[in-house]
Amino acid sequence: MKLRYFSHSSFQITSDAGEVILIDPFFDGNPTSPVTSAEVSADYIVLTHGHGDHLGDALKIATRCNALLICVNELANYCIDKGCRAHNMHIGGSYLFPFGRLKFTIAHHGSMTPEGTYAGEPAGVVLTVDGKSLYHTGDTGLFYDMKLIGEMTSLDYMLLPIGDNFTMGIDDAVKAVELARPGVAIPMHYNTFPVIAADPQEFARRVKALGKVAWVMGYGEERRL
Ligand code: NI
Ligand code: MN
Repeated sequence: MKLRYFSHSSFQITSDAGEVILIDPFFDGNPTSPVTSAEVSADYIVLTHGHGDHLGDALKIATRCNALLICVNELANYCIDKGCRAHNMHIGGSYLFPFGRLKFTIAHHGSMTPEGTYAGEPAGVVLTVDGKSLYHTGDTGLFYDMKLIGEMTSLDYMLLPIGDNFTMGIDDAVKAVELARPGVAIPMHYNTFPVIAADPQEFARRVKALGKVAWVMGYGEERRL
């Protein structure tokens, strides 16, 4: 599989079979995005919660590509009301999709769409694609059950916020890596806006000091996992 980072919490996974999965696609209102929503296509779109910087351009892309949205029940129903296809799930549940297994986890945050519709509980997501596991925490504060998530699935990759203010900052994100014990930690949700300014190299240094690996991915960069 390949992983591409677009900035903020937006990632694209491409499976070896060529399936394209977007997570939290936020392009057109995102000052740091290297692409516009018109330049991105998807087969599946995973949403962690309903905030505008995560729902982002999901409906637009899903409509254009006939992509399947995957999210918690309330947010999925909102997407269906907007004319999109969605697979309704909820926290603690997993499902085997053609690309691999996907499970929703808890996240400590809020969730409402930009229109003010209640979007259910915010979530994190654990995906297993081509034998590799990846945990995208969504927007969240630090919580001790990250240890449990790492025990239930041996995590190859953990994508986690470091921007502070709305989510974990660097201190808490380093602790999160210590708890979940991923093979590689990848910072997200920073420097998009002044209020979430953070130095990803500081995070990387502190993760390395734990004897762990951190990748700071550039905007638009793609890596083979
Ligand atoms: Ni949020
Ligand atoms: Mn956010």
